[in-house]
Amino acid sequence: MSMLPHAGNGKVSVPDILSRKALSSAASSESKSKITCLTAYDYPTARLLDEAGVDVILVGDSVGMAVLGYDSTLPVTLDDMLHHLRAVRRGTRHALLVVDMPYGSFHVSIEDSVRNAMRLVKEGGAEAVKVEGGERRLELIHRLVEAEIPVMGHVGLTPQSVNAMGGFHVQGKSMDAARQVERDARAVEAAGAFAVVLESMPRELAAQITAQLRIPTIGIGAGPDCDGQVLVFHDLVGLTEGYTPKFVRRYADLANEIMRAARDYCEDVRGGKFPADGESYHSTAELGRPVTGGSVKVPG
Ligand code: KIV
Repeated sequence: MSMLPHAGNGKVSVPDILSRKALSSAASSESKSKITCLTAYDYPTARLLDEAGVDVILVGDSVGMAVLGYDSTLPVTLDDMLHHLRAVRRGTRHALLVVDMPYGSFHVSIEDSVRNAMRLVKEGGAEAVKVEGGERRLELIHRLVEAEIPVMGHVGLTPQSVNAMGGFHVQGKSMDAARQVERDARAVEAAGAFAVVLESMPRELAAQITAQLRIPTIGIGAGPDCDGQVLVFHDLVGLTEGYTPKFVRRYADLANEIMRAARDYCEDVRGGKFPADGESYHSTAELGRPVTGGSVKVPG
């Protein structure tokens, strides 16, 4: 059996992602087996990322900040997530499709949380859900996995805890805090998650956790030693406004490209340069002549 990430019909599955942990531990193939993950919130982006060969597409609740203009992820609703998930589903053929459970959708009873996750699978086409939090989510993750819903954990900086954490700060910097992040990651694994996001923590801590766990770690602001990496798409292509954390690498400057295109368009329209004759439809010679005679019948 092939161990390559895009084996068979090219569809990436949960077992494929799990199997990458074994590959990542084998020094010879380490870099090739790293898991790639990017966020997407709409159809065209999903289609492009999928075609580019990204392993995991995450419909993150970062949609709240990247697309909807909120200053945190907290206002994002389950219906918002379903709306964006359906669009991304239509554009995704190969990548594993993971969706965030938004704030409030799993801070209720376990039964309601499982029901909410099932909506994301049944109505949105998600193949797995991501749940923020560690030890506190043990029972929930276990119940979701029992209900056949694969779970990606998320520990370290969990943006839905922004009020409790007092801001978006790097986590696990003191010895006690580092031990807590480790316990959280182990709890997520013990509960049955197939992977875990490690967000904003010292690279040394992320490396230790990666070495301890049997499931893959996917880092964001957690250094290069994780089994994979995730970035917010809008950060990657330079569409984010204002401050971006130091772990973000910009691979394109779309904000300036879009601005340039919009300015050029306005200039051309105002200067009578757009549309040109070649960009216009033409009628037959007869229809092109001014209409004479005949009358227009006014109804009523
Ligand atoms: O919401 C999101 O996009 C995320 C990733 C940054 C991991 O949780």
